[in-house]
Amino acid sequence: MSHIFHRNLTKILPIAVGGEGVYLIDKKGKRYIDASCGAAVSCVGHNNSFVIDAMKHQLDQLAYAHTGFFTTEIAEQLAELLISKSRGAFAKVYFLSGGSEALETAMKMARQYCVECGETERQFFISRKQSYHGNTISALSVGGNMWRRQVYEPILGTANHISPCYAYRDQQVGETEEQYGLRVANELEERILQLGKTKVIAFIAETVVGATVGALPAVPGYFKRVREVCDKYGVLLILDEIMCGMGRTGKTYAFEDEGVQPDLACIAKGLGGGYQAISATLASDRLFSAIKEGSGNFQHGHTYIGHPTAAAASLAVQQYIDKHNLLLNVSERSKQLFTLLNARFNNHPYIGNIRGRGLFAGIEIVKDKESKEPFSAATKLDVLLKNTAMDNGIMIYPNAGTIDGKRGHHILLAPPFISNKNEIDEIVEKLSITLEQVFSKIG
Ligand SMILES: Cc1ncc(COP(=O)(O)O)c(C=O)c1O
Repeated sequence: MSHIFHRNLTKILPIAVGGEGVYLIDKKGKRYIDASCGAAVSCVGHNNSFVIDAMKHQLDQLAYAHTGFFTTEIAEQLAELLISKSRGAFAKVYFLSGGSEALETAMKMARQYCVECGETERQFFISRKQSYHGNTISALSVGGNMWRRQVYEPILGTANHISPCYAYRDQQVGETEEQYGLRVANELEERILQLGKTKVIAFIAETVVGATVGALPAVPGYFKRVREVCDKYGVLLILDEIMCGMGRTGKTYAFEDEGVQPDLACIAKGLGGGYQAISATLASDRLFSAIKEGSGNFQHGHTYIGHPTAAAASLAVQQYIDKHNLLLNVSERSKQLFTLLNARFNNHPYIGNIRGRGLFAGIEIVKDKESKEPFSAATKLDVLLKNTAMDNGIMIYPNAGTIDGKRGHHILLAPPFISNKNEIDEIVEKLSITLEQVFSKIG
């Protein structure tokens, strides 16, 4: 009998006891290929000795020092690396322990920036439907994931949600991708004008939407128009790269592919690769300077920010990625993954759309390819897929509510950056077997 208040209160979970590269191993010795990196976390795989040695070395020196009293060399080194990789987008990094904390920190930094600039009337955030920004109250308030919000709706903050950029579902007949992108980006301007030209603090969006819709990149030109609108009204742009950042798309920062730079970005999962709990909020020079030259103090802080052991793990993860040129591997394995997925599933009667970027792939499931009608929620397709996959020794990340928080299903794949050719083959093979087993039950 477990005394843990688990996520799922009815399920008996296998006990994880070991890891080896792209595999996790349970207490019975069963091996699972980690095709989703948990939730896009374990980018350099499990039991990576380079990372573990770096953590041990740091523990031998110093495990923890409160950031109200000290900085540490290891956290400074990590910050320097992250800033240098941003090629001028950011000047400073604020370390935290999880994605939701990073997002809340960005919201507070953005609000304080407005106050420092004398624009105290700015009070609203605009974000998108079908997005996820975390489970703490404020992060959930801006998130557009209906089923995650439902129970807590009465205690959430004001939400201002515009449409996602979801071409597969919402691009109209006769509309080009570019026209569609402009149409949905222009919703931002309309909402700013509705709320009041000088009332909006920031627009928050995942550069590539993760868990809610399944690896959904925006159409070309969308984020450029978003940036223009933000600049026109003095609204900050906060990009949530908690899931899609740190190399997942093949670039350190996913916005590199969009031709825009945000004012703030949040990173987490791949930052520490699961070796320690670490996240960060990255701030542009304009934003940082306004706070520094204004009140000179960001009104924030948590006990574990800038944790030296977490910084050591994260620095080692990033060094390992650089040393082994893993972003090149992400691009190469991405080509292989999408070629295999398209070859296997493009003509499959229940696969409506295959999308994504880098080693971040979304597979949207439909009951009818022509009408794009989804399977009913009552099928619990997401649960069935996850359980069947686990039985088959593969971890995938399926979800329900793809279309609007209620209808639709998708599978998210996010294999480790270290995956080799055979491992990607194994992922697609096991996924294919899983899909056939599940569809034979519900099809
Ligand atoms: C895009 C995005 N933002 C925020 C979060 C929240 O991160 P955490 O679970 O570390 O609080 C997640 C987690 O899945 C995420 O995918």
